[in-house]
Amino acid sequence: MANKKERKGLPVLLTLTVAALQVVHHWTGPVSVALYAAGDEWPLVQAYVRFLRRCYVPVRDRVTFHAAFPADRMPEAAAQPEQMTEILSLEAHLDCFRPEPSLKELMRQRRPETMRWRTRHGYPQNHLRNLARRTCQTEYVFLVDVDVVPSLGLAQGLNEFLKNAQCGGASAAAPPAVLPRPPRTGAGPRVGQRPGPPQCAFVIPTYELDERVRFPRNKSDLVRLAGKGLARPFHHKVFIYNQFATNFSRWQNEGDADNAPVHVAYNVTNFEFLYEPFYVARDTIPAHDERFMGYGYTRNTQVYEMFVAGVQFQVLSPAFTVHWGLQSKQARPAWRELQNNENRRHFDLFKREVAVRYRRDPLSMVQPNRASGKT
Ligand SMILES: *[C@@H]1O[C@H](CO)[C@@H](O)[C@H](O)[C@H]1NC(C)=O
Ligand SMILES: *[C@@H]1O[C@H](CO)[C@@H](O)[C@H](O)[C@H]1NC(C)=O
Ligand SMILES: *[C@@H]1O[C@H](CO)[C@@H](O)[C@H](O)[C@H]1NC(C)=O
Repeated sequence: MANKKERKGLPVLLTLTVAALQVVHHWTGPVSVALYAAGDEWPLVQAYVRFLRRCYVPVRDRVTFHAAFPADRMPEAAAQPEQMTEILSLEAHLDCFRPEPSLKELMRQRRPETMRWRTRHGYPQNHLRNLARRTCQTEYVFLVDVDVVPSLGLAQGLNEFLKNAQCGGASAAAPPAVLPRPPRTGAGPRVGQRPGPPQCAFVIPTYELDERVRFPRNKSDLVRLAGKGLARPFHHKVFIYNQFATNFSRWQNEGDADNAPVHVAYNVTNFEFLYEPFYVARDTIPAHDERFMGYGYTRNTQVYEMFVAGVQFQVLSPAFTVHWGLQSKQARPAWRELQNNENRRHFDLFKREVAVRYRRDPLSMVQPNRASGKT
């Protein structure tokens, strides 16, 4: 019985290629993937899913796909017969050894108008994260972006760990043991509203990895690569707050054996706003707020709400995840800036709601004398 799973949060189909295939080969538990398709993309997305299922046994065995559509771009299920014939004959020639070019080939069939529509509209990632969560039935969730690859044996290791995982008494600063279940308006349904015991979230450190090296076999292999500058904490250069509170130097110095069972190495003690680790938790944690769309504030706001709710973050070892490619700071395209600004405005309201919902404001995000701003 699998009691946790992997859920794919950010399923831009174009990234559901090499890294995603590595994910399903490494992860031996069930996987729930959320897809977003607009109008004429749907028959093409279906063709690609058929291709993946035909070519890769782990996809066939372990992955369920779930789709969401924009209301004003419902799927054109009954594509024109001649278009369908074209898609099918194209599909028949896709090469299992070339998943990425195959995807590109299919996506080229989209109407130019659809591609333009894509660039104008924010990606509803939190809606898709909730969709992937909601369509899984396991007790624990490991929600990741589609290109975050788990270390080898992680699913089995977590299964063993979670069987006996305990979350001790809530920390002194924490509110009541049972997560409140606030009524919700306007932001879509909440996921997992059962009250539960005191909550812990088990952080699995994420590294970015130079594309020229082999996937690390184990933690000491990863630490060795980090020592050579071929691996480093995810987003270290782009946005250090992203994972800072995980305390990678401490994690690397833990010195636990590679074949040690998955265990809690230490607690996160320096939580700060904008922290957004990938973590495993019971699916009773708050949903992702769907008002955040596109770039910025989508995942870290959910992590922030967990913190305010009193969830204790605990860092696991020797488990880890990897994101391919060392990332460096780049100029942000204008659309990103726009989406980020839009989400920042939502955040002004969101942080006030969270403070009211849990009746606490541990990071002093809501200053009473500033509260008369726009809402
Ligand atoms: C870590 O957090 C758990 C859960 O809140 C708590 O029981 C435990 O005592 C903490 N460990 C340390 C070393 O503070
Ligand atoms: C990381 O852990 C070390 C102890 O190993 C501690 O001295 C340091 O303050 C921690 N840093 C953060 C950011 O938690
Ligand atoms: C960890 O990986 C390294 C490098 O591949 C290997 O030499 C070592 O034997 C591995 N350790 C264990 C316990 O598997």
